[in-house]
Amino acid sequence: MSIIPKTQLALLRNLVAYVVRIRPDAIATTILGVVSSAMELAALTSLIPLSQLAGHQAIRDGSFWHRMPMALGFLPGVKFYAMMFLLLLLLRTITQTAAGVLTQHLNRNLIAHFSARTLEALVHHLTFAQVQKESIGHFVTLAGDEANRAAQIIAALMKLVPLVALFLLYIATIVIQSWKFGAGLFVFIFVTVLCLWGAFRKSHALGQRQQVESRSLNTHFIESLSGLRTVRSLTGEQFVSMRYDQMIRAYARTCFSIDALNQISSTMPTVLLVSGLLIAVSQFATPEWLTGFLPAIMVGAMMVLRLLPLAGQTLDVAMRLTADLKAAENISEMLEVVKSAATLKASPLLNLEEPITHIAFDNVSFRYSEDTLPVLDRFSVAFEAGKSYAITGPSGSGKSSVVDLLLKFFQPQSGTILVNGRNVATLSDTSLRQRIVLAEQAVRIFYDTVQHNILFGRDGAPVDVLDALETVGLRDFIATLPDAELTLLNFQGSNFSGGQRQRVGLARALLHPSDVLILDESTSALDHKTREKILSTILPCYRDRILIFIAHDPAILARVDEVIHLQPSGTEEIHKPLPAMAR
Ligand SMILES: Nc1ncnc2c1ncn2[C@@H]1O[C@H](COP(=O)(O)OP(=O)(O)OP(=O)(O)O)[C@@H](O)[C@H]1O
Ligand SMILES: [Mg+2]
Repeated sequence: MSIIPKTQLALLRNLVAYVVRIRPDAIATTILGVVSSAMELAALTSLIPLSQLAGHQAIRDGSFWHRMPMALGFLPGVKFYAMMFLLLLLLRTITQTAAGVLTQHLNRNLIAHFSARTLEALVHHLTFAQVQKESIGHFVTLAGDEANRAAQIIAALMKLVPLVALFLLYIATIVIQSWKFGAGLFVFIFVTVLCLWGAFRKSHALGQRQQVESRSLNTHFIESLSGLRTVRSLTGEQFVSMRYDQMIRAYARTCFSIDALNQISSTMPTVLLVSGLLIAVSQFATPEWLTGFLPAIMVGAMMVLRLLPLAGQTLDVAMRLTADLKAAENISEMLEVVKSAATLKASPLLNLEEPITHIAFDNVSFRYSEDTLPVLDRFSVAFEAGKSYAITGPSGSGKSSVVDLLLKFFQPQSGTILVNGRNVATLSDTSLRQRIVLAEQAVRIFYDTVQHNILFGRDGAPVDVLDALETVGLRDFIATLPDAELTLLNFQGSNFSGGQRQRVGLARALLHPSDVLILDESTSALDHKTREKILSTILPCYRDRILIFIAHDPAILARVDEVIHLQPSGTEEIHKPLPAMAR
């Protein structure tokens, strides 16, 4: 039976191997820690001859303490031993500080690395289905708290190695000095570990609970903030803050339980040993015996006094390690996702080099999960360059899902989606998405300038941004803002109206020419005149390409070449508008 289950030991091993691979300096830092520990022991051991001299005992000729100074060209005497003690103490302090600084440096870098890899896994590699399974707090906790705790595990291990080494060295020194005392120590260690067994298991369980609570409260916090208007309009402030209060208190209680458990466990060895010694001295030691061994007892006492905090520290680190194991597991999963994605790149998908001229859904059936109804059932449709389309149908009939499938956000369970006659499954996501631009139904506004919200990391000159703003009729409004297109948009674009946010989304989609433009309810919040103006610019622009509207608006349905009616089951009908209605 082990405190840490086998699978988690393997996980810990993998995590350590990963860290050593990306940061080989971790080994050097750990070795420095061990060297520093050895210095401490050497310094304390050098007190042995000093205590003998202080007790008027001679240093025996030929003994180690006699031979050692001679070998170094010094006379064995108080001055040499005192200097040796001070020198070793100095070296111990310097190496300990250096190891501490290096560990901190590594720790901060690891936090940054784990957090960045988590976002990378999330943004680049996890499927939408995998992301949607989790709450928003899950990922926030993962990239924050858990990245931190996983890095702490490495720091804890780096501390644990020198601590355990030092602990064992102390014990070895004590055993060499007196085997009886050593035997007593082994009994003490055995009893201590037995007493702490339950505490280790509890610490692990509490670590898991802490994680679940941290995720829930992060989710609640973010949702309260992003839904602030809803919260206030429903007068739900009290409800929201009371719930958060309860959650954060429960979380604080769990954190406290972990801290208290660590604290109590780390003082357990002291309590056990001191009680044992007290009983032994009161029952067995005679005053003569104690006086005769006074110098040895003094050094022994110093060693024990040092050994006890050391045992406490070792336990504290070990407890933290067990509490943080779950975080290490989750971070390892993210590292694995990034690693396997890099391996997959060895068999790249095809790049779509030519413009998209033809898209076909051939008998596509799709459901988001096993336990939900199908959204599309043997759905077939074709889109060709040179034509405009409108997909319409009741809410929830699967219009946006058609786009999700085309952009490979989800995979259909059966049927094929063909782009220029090639199955999209064989095409690289990036090359496909660079040619198909979607203006989303719910426009996301990022906490950044208007310009960055429109460019969003893509190439483009400021003048292109102004042109896009002109097309969507926002240029004049933006010019009135304090910093024009460099004005910062508030959280969720709250300093813009709904229609203005929608037009920022449109401008973002129109910035770069694409082969396929999909506008998912992108003009639904606009007045008739603005919408007409935008349509009159876009329609001629996309005359040779594929333009797809997802809309209910009769004005849009009347202006496209083909209307696709989606029924809730996904059974579609295609209507061609009457010529009189068409323009
Ligand atoms: N990411 C998702 N995960 C699970 N189910 C989803 C997801 N997105 C949509 N659905 C479900 O799929 C069905 C079709 O949704 P979709 O968004 O495609 O409808 P829609 O026709 O665009 O509706 P609307 O006109 O209201 O925008 C709905 O029943 C919806 O609940
Ligand atoms: Mg929709």
